[in-house]
Amino acid sequence: MCGIVGYVGQKQALPILLDGLMRLEYRGYDSAGFALYSKDHFEIKRNAGPVQGLIDLTQDCGKTETQGIAHTRWATHGAPNETNAHPHRAGEIVLVHNGIIENYSQIKEYLSKEGVQFSSQTDTEVFAQLIEFRRKEIAKKNPTQSAESTLLQSMKKAIDEVEGHYAIVLMALGIPGKLFGIQNGAPLVVSKLKDGALIASDIQAIIPYHNEVCFLPKGEIFIADKDGFHAKGLKFETIDWTADKVEKNGFESFMLKEIFQQPMVVADTLTGRLPLDQKSPFMWDHQKAHEVLWKNVKRLYLVACGTSSHAAMAAKYYFERWARLDCQVDIASEFRYRDPVFEPGTVVGVISQSGETADTLAALRLANDAGASTFSICNVPNSTIARESSFQYPTKAGPEIGVASTKAFTAQLTMLCALALDVGRLRGIQQTKDSAQKSFHGLARLPQDLDQVLSQSEAFIKIGEKLKNQRIILFVGRGTMYPIALEGALKFKELTYLPAEGFAAGELKHGPIAYIDPDVSIITLAPKDEWYSKTISNLEEIRARGGHIIAIGTEGDTEIQKISNEFIGLPKSAWGTQPILSVIPLQLLAYGCAKALGRNIDKPRNLAKSVTVE
Ligand code: M6R
Repeated sequence: MCGIVGYVGQKQALPILLDGLMRLEYRGYDSAGFALYSKDHFEIKRNAGPVQGLIDLTQDCGKTETQGIAHTRWATHGAPNETNAHPHRAGEIVLVHNGIIENYSQIKEYLSKEGVQFSSQTDTEVFAQLIEFRRKEIAKKNPTQSAESTLLQSMKKAIDEVEGHYAIVLMALGIPGKLFGIQNGAPLVVSKLKDGALIASDIQAIIPYHNEVCFLPKGEIFIADKDGFHAKGLKFETIDWTADKVEKNGFESFMLKEIFQQPMVVADTLTGRLPLDQKSPFMWDHQKAHEVLWKNVKRLYLVACGTSSHAAMAAKYYFERWARLDCQVDIASEFRYRDPVFEPGTVVGVISQSGETADTLAALRLANDAGASTFSICNVPNSTIARESSFQYPTKAGPEIGVASTKAFTAQLTMLCALALDVGRLRGIQQTKDSAQKSFHGLARLPQDLDQVLSQSEAFIKIGEKLKNQRIILFVGRGTMYPIALEGALKFKELTYLPAEGFAAGELKHGPIAYIDPDVSIITLAPKDEWYSKTISNLEEIRARGGHIIAIGTEGDTEIQKISNEFIGLPKSAWGTQPILSVIPLQLLAYGCAKALGRNIDKPRNLAKSVTVE
């Protein structure tokens, strides 16, 4: 979603701002713009469409300016056109904004009655006009007060009047060399460089310059100048992400690179945590986890959105089996508006790659407010969700740039598999099935097994290419393969824009079987697990109706090959780790088909990487 970059210092600002915008492109946007502070005026350029279009407008521009703000906009209020693109100018100030101003229409009505004219349909311009309106009022009452004090007072006043979650960065004429702003529920990250101060909505735009960053505290107005940042409660820390982690490194897309990083990501997520004897507890802060979460747990809610919710669904099988825990999975946008029961002993775990998803964050806050114990599984260190949860089990997938989540999902599944095994131990559960011990081993050899699966990538991509003319693609599986089927369908539709649905295999005959014919491909996840024979029966039913079957099974399985049109054989892994292997071909099928259709792999249309609004 929207992205912010700001720089003030001694260097030419424009290249830094444009570089930052390109690094934020992955978040999803539909227009872009920047404003430079140029002696006694602002130089503003905006463009509907890609950042490259904005760059094309910059010849002869920004050669001397050392201060500016820039933005990529994902339209919420008003069409994605140049007029609604940020920055927005209101009198002496120019402003960029992420998030939503919920009471913008009341404020707009009030300001309109006061004679303020608006040029866009955005809530952002309303915020800018309100600050400017208050600034003029205060300046009139206190004409001798400094321009900076007047601006700060007007910002405070306007902030009290607006409702919503947002971040803003602004500049004001007459106050050169300074940026002002606040984060009020939408993150802003800042870094002090040798030659100035850099600010962005996301670490990706900062990491290439410096890895010491500070996530601005909520509700504190900051001032940035060439010497750094001035605000209460700033805590700088070093992030272990490096610039090369946000480059494609020879891959033709970030998504493909991220798919191939999965063995490493899984290893990183487990490094130092998997007990070498595979018997002792996992190595995170055990004492604290036990105290805060698991000692008195009676019910577990796992809450997330999109791909992360599929990881939660798979984890339900793990927690029920190994930890004998009542585990309910919820989509965050539903959970937050339902009336969930938080009895004593309720633990709520939220799962999020970005750690900034608005619905997931709201669900976490609901649980925190109700007094439940909470934990997070987040990929972005220090994200809002990570910070606001009582305990963190961080995944170590590194920056994920492709909008379609791949490596973050496998890292989440890995962490959830390990966590459920660990909670089973903490709760003293006697394992009655051998899946727990085997899954320990499965986790230890997962990077190797993933490498083996990825060695067949060309074959998976080719099968994907052939799917481009199918009328509809169904993904089916049973047990832990059901959430993987849902994930396969989500990946397929977001990348290819073709209709795809995921079902529990046993549900087919309750409806979907009606539309099965030779133009329908059914991708079936059927490893040799405890549900195998049931899934085979379902496949027979599909075959009898002429459906085109692509079976993803265990290597060497000849029985399934006889009843399917195409077969993908995967190494046999343990019950808990087989789902982690099985999602890889689905990612590559979607990739192959999307490529054959000429889709934008890293930035599918209409999608945003980090969904920070409802
Ligand atoms: O950052 P989060 O994990 O909270 O994001 C949740 C969803 O928006 C995300 O998984 C989305 O479904 C992806 N585009 C899927 O590939």
